[in-house]
Amino acid sequence: MTTPAPDVERWSALKVWLFSLFNKNPESNLSAVDRMGLVSADRFLDLGCGLGAALEHATATGAKTAGIDPSPSMVERAGERVPRAEVRLGSAEAIPFEDDAFTAALAVATYHHWADPETGLEEVRRVLAPGGRLLVVERKLKRSSGHGLDGTGGESLAKLLESHGYVSAQVETMNLGRKEYLTVSAVVP
Ligand SMILES: C[S@@+](CC[C@H](N)C(=O)[O-])C[C@H]1O[C@@H](n2cnc3c(N)ncnc32)[C@H](O)[C@@H]1O
Repeated sequence: MTTPAPDVERWSALKVWLFSLFNKNPESNLSAVDRMGLVSADRFLDLGCGLGAALEHATATGAKTAGIDPSPSMVERAGERVPRAEVRLGSAEAIPFEDDAFTAALAVATYHHWADPETGLEEVRRVLAPGGRLLVVERKLKRSSGHGLDGTGGESLAKLLESHGYVSAQVETMNLGRKEYLTVSAVVP
């Protein structure tokens, strides 16, 4: 098992429990998985899988699924919730899977936590097979810092993806009720 990179955040069991009070089934996770249009031939990776809501929804499509998270408590909960998924301790910066292992990767509300986004994007590209797609979803912010991305942050991420060899980077808005999200997608050539 690869351990997460040393300076990566590890949420305590208490923080995970508090998070779980309000975030067991975030609509963002379900909509993000729907946006990926998974089919049973897909091999799906949820980066920063948290409590496993996206994993559960993705697994129901028949796709082969896996999740990683640097918090042992999240890994335990997601693994219990979705026994068919392979949930491992890891971080975007150190993904414990082999090259070309996946056809689709999702990161909901986690990119802004990554300690080293450039290393993370390289790692995701490594584990995505040619044609593999990445979708990053973050709350849309009005200011440049906080738990999400503002419009400039979305465009910067799209540029960063292209500078790391991804193609077709696209920034879009996703509205769910009164909540607004930015989605940034790209493909590995
Ligand atoms: C706000 S939660 C989101 C969880 C889940 N994706 C969701 O939308 O419900 C952020 C998650 O990112 C994880 N995380 C923090 N740093 C990370 C990193 N460097 N790589 C991957 N996941 C990370 C945390 O442990 C936590 O589970």
